[in-house]
Amino acid sequence: MNTPICDFVKKYARSSAIRLHMPGHKGVPVLGAEPLDITEIDGADVLYSSGGIIRESEENAAKLFGAARTVYSTEGSSLSIRAMLYLTALYAKENGKRPIIAAGRNAHKAFLSAAALIDFEVVWLYSKTRGNMISCDITAALLDEMLASMTELPCAVYITSPNYLGGTADISGLSLVCHKHGVLLLVDNAHGAYLNFLSESRHPMALGADMCADSAHKTLPVLTGGAYLHISKTAPHMFAEQCERAMALFASTSPSYLILQSLDSANRYLSSGYRQRLCKYERGIIGLKASMIRHGYNVYQDEALKLTILTKMVGYLGHEYAQKLLEYNVVCEFSDPDYCVLMFTPELGDDILTRLERVIAEIPIKDQITAGSPHAVVSEAVMTPREAMLSPSEVIPVSAALGRVLADVNVSCPPAIPIVMCGEQIGNDALRAFEYYGITSVRVVK
Ligand SMILES: Cc1ncc(COP(=O)(O)O)c(C=O)c1O
Repeated sequence: MNTPICDFVKKYARSSAIRLHMPGHKGVPVLGAEPLDITEIDGADVLYSSGGIIRESEENAAKLFGAARTVYSTEGSSLSIRAMLYLTALYAKENGKRPIIAAGRNAHKAFLSAAALIDFEVVWLYSKTRGNMISCDITAALLDEMLASMTELPCAVYITSPNYLGGTADISGLSLVCHKHGVLLLVDNAHGAYLNFLSESRHPMALGADMCADSAHKTLPVLTGGAYLHISKTAPHMFAEQCERAMALFASTSPSYLILQSLDSANRYLSSGYRQRLCKYERGIIGLKASMIRHGYNVYQDEALKLTILTKMVGYLGHEYAQKLLEYNVVCEFSDPDYCVLMFTPELGDDILTRLERVIAEIPIKDQITAGSPHAVVSEAVMTPREAMLSPSEVIPVSAALGRVLADVNVSCPPAIPIVMCGEQIGNDALRAFEYYGITSVRVVK
């Protein structure tokens, strides 16, 4: 696969041009990467009005992911999510429907800020057991039941899969149900770009989703910020036609060409034997998980590249366990009172798995901690997210927050999943969850 963005920038860096354009470093190395950090000069194309090297590279990515159209983001999935939801709201309006989106309650805060910005209506979907704050197990049968019972169908269902703990939803089952009801399926696939490269793709584009947002930077060898918006071959045509407009609405006008080059070079990297390397690495992680289970651990098995340790089973709170790992210079992705999450990619190399197995064997197992974590909170929405976000607000201690309406999209349990949504009234369950996650003050509507 060719790398038109990298080729252009490299050639420009070698040309010794006198750079009388932005960025202000003028290509003079201070950090080291400056010669390759350019802006949208002649020949470099324009992100979101593309027709040259960026479009060519995006077409390579679309081919790789089996999408009708792939657009790059240099501002993470957060940007792709906002654009995806804007396109959906626009499509609903064009088809005479109200923009209602039914979303799994474990949505990342980017979804909520999009609701506030775009002003679509949200119907929250909870799993049967209400699970915990981070996972939300919506099965195809449950979704079918939920959609069948709604008096007004949403224009789209929005699912977060994989979730932060590595749980994945049955995207092909969910897409069949959605399409049976004439509803679109949108997937927050921020954690799942790599799913495309498993021996059999489990990426949302292969499983029937209409659009998805992938943080390439989370699971692929791409610089932080590099992400995709993918539009499927069966999605309404207007999505591909208007996706650049949608991205431009929320994006900076100064995209990072370092990140664009990273996305561009990933196309070549991923199309050159990556599937084989990933499959081999996946077997190594399966082996590590099996060895931990033999040692008395409980780990989630669902997702290939994540190791989620239920640390209370071995006598530690999640962050205590993360501290233990740190003593061995192992830095985890995420920890909270219940979990410690480690993320792998083949780039780490095989010996890291062996070293980690040895480290884990050295950490003493203690008596199980039995205290559980709070369920996902059900709260009454008394305002829309937009009304709440735009209302005058004040910060108060959590102890005085009962009955007040949350004004912020940022009151989250650790991986940025809102505990209460802005516009919702704070109840006792929410207060308990705030306490559990160490939240001591909140911004509420005045
Ligand atoms: C589930 C989920 N969705 C979306 C995002 C936002 O992705 P990004 O950081 O690439 O903007 C995150 C970030 O952690 C996430 O965990």
